[in-house]
Amino acid sequence: MTVTILSGLVLVFFILLAGMAIIPVFFGAPWHPLSDKNIIRIIKFAGLKPGENFYDLGSGDGRVLIAASKKRFVRGVGVEIDPIKVWLSRYFVITEKLSEKIRIHRGNMFDFDVSQADVIYLYLTHQALDRLFPEILDRMKPSARIICYRFCIRNLEPTKVNKDQNLFLYTLNKGRTLNAYS
Ligand SMILES: C[S@@+](CC[C@H](N)C(=O)[O-])C[C@H]1O[C@@H](n2cnc3c(N)ncnc32)[C@H](O)[C@@H]1O
Repeated sequence: MTVTILSGLVLVFFILLAGMAIIPVFFGAPWHPLSDKNIIRIIKFAGLKPGENFYDLGSGDGRVLIAASKKRFVRGVGVEIDPIKVWLSRYFVITEKLSEKIRIHRGNMFDFDVSQADVIYLYLTHQALDRLFPEILDRMKPSARIICYRFCIRNLEPTKVNKDQNLFLYTLNKGRTLNAYS
């Protein structure tokens, strides 16, 4: 009897885990949690300044927002489609006592309001980035910066790329075009 209950719980756990990782593929991008080392690398590369509004579209477990807020004193905004990760990340935000600094929204990044973002961080797929760009540029501050991890934005010239070529910074020009969108 105990064995049956335990196996049932283990099965439910793995179904939930698979759901969290795979179902979001149909909405834009799968989930792939980052190591702490990579999170630190991303935050350093982003060159965040205290008080900036840092947005994570597809914010997953919220750890990038939490680390950025703790290390660079930014205000964090996340949007995540998967309700389980939304609850998990909100729980992490509360336990880190960052509720005043970080907001996690349950929603779809493709129609999320990014007009207040100073920096937008994206760890998505090429397909999801193709859906966001160039349309999202019309909804962003002209001064906003974009950081992409692993997947670059096709047809856009990055301002900076790291040595491992897996982090890309895009800066807006004075106008609304972002370098050259060919
Ligand atoms: C590769 S993970 C990145 C998680 C987090 N940004 C990080 O760097 O650790 C992509 C995330 O985007 C979420 N996602 C996929 N499609 C989405 C959509 N249309 N709107 C909001 N979130 C979405 C997935 O659930 C997943 O958590």
